[in-house]
Amino acid sequence: MQDLLREIEQFCLRHDMSETRFGELALNDKPFVSQLKAGRDLRSSTAVRLRQFMADYVARQTVPDDGSGRFPAGALAFPHRDLLGIAHLERHEIFYVLDQAERWVELNRQPSKHSDLLSGLTIINAFFENSTRTLLSFEIAGKRLGADVVNMHAAQSSVKKGETLIDTAITLNAMRADAIVIRHGSSGAVDLIASKVDCPVLNAGDGQHEHPTQALLDALALRHALAERGEASEDFTGLTVTICGDILHSRVARSNILCLQALGATVRVCAPPALMPAGIGAIGAEPFHDFDAALDGADVAMMLRLQTERMEGEFIPSAREYHHLYGLTKSRLERAAPNALVMHPGPMNRGVEIDSDVADLIDRSIITRQAEMGVDIRMASLDVLTRKVRQVEGWA
Ligand code: CP
Repeated sequence: MQDLLREIEQFCLRHDMSETRFGELALNDKPFVSQLKAGRDLRSSTAVRLRQFMADYVARQTVPDDGSGRFPAGALAFPHRDLLGIAHLERHEIFYVLDQAERWVELNRQPSKHSDLLSGLTIINAFFENSTRTLLSFEIAGKRLGADVVNMHAAQSSVKKGETLIDTAITLNAMRADAIVIRHGSSGAVDLIASKVDCPVLNAGDGQHEHPTQALLDALALRHALAERGEASEDFTGLTVTICGDILHSRVARSNILCLQALGATVRVCAPPALMPAGIGAIGAEPFHDFDAALDGADVAMMLRLQTERMEGEFIPSAREYHHLYGLTKSRLERAAPNALVMHPGPMNRGVEIDSDVADLIDRSIITRQAEMGVDIRMASLDVLTRKVRQVEGWA
């Protein structure tokens, strides 16, 4: 019976399912897990039913083999309650979200962009830091899917009266949100909130830690740009991406390094020594301090802004000197591969990390495409994470 208890514990962990809920789902409210924990034996027929429940549940969530070989046999489509970071995702789970987003790319290019998929659900966007792209695209995504979307801006909330993050999370939870999207200035704050609420939590950027939907939308935009050039392939194998900027303070850099590598790309990171985190090589990115060398033959230049709001003290002598050494100019772009693509998550500081005549290059810059696909990825993320509460076949 202890084997069964261990199996249940693993199952609950992997499927973000509480043991209580497991008991409800499996066997009509009877607290079997508590009995097991108390060392009581279950009838063998009950143990068989519990194991059958777990096997059926897993089978329903398994992605069908699409013949591409990208989904390992028996792989679960997306066995996570929350989207907290790329670090938690397997390669095939990243592909799953990207593939799910394709239907929203199509819908969002139509004159009528409405779906009722999330009708009746409530989504709260709780933003404790400023945002244009992420907040708006989550709001648009929720509304296009038919959900009721509520935005909580920390500046106008009771956080200003001294309410703690945990009390705020408990309050949002009490209002029975079906998904909570959070941006916060502290690394790990979103994970903390996720541990206090009952609904899915989506990380919209936490401190210097992760910004998973940004990395996913960047991958989708890159995939589309390559496909339009007739360079579509199964993944990003053979592609070299140079990420240049304030790597030290950037959650976008971290999520992108993890995501791009999972999809097969080689990632170089470039920053002045003061803005390069120690041990960056440990997550597989090749560090550079010389931007010209980092750009040499690269297929993609992804530029990041200086995150001055996270800097205490002076990290660079001046914006002018930074631009001279690390700014992407038209002449510097020539060091990259012919037709190399230019990316930037925004917001941009033109004339600092990137020149206008590069940012606006029609055939090379995919910055506006990144903004477009932010909506598609956020629609896909909200869809996938709310399938359990919507009792979608295979996810309920
Ligand atoms: N890329 C990004 O996160 O932009 P916002 O800060 O405007 O959301």
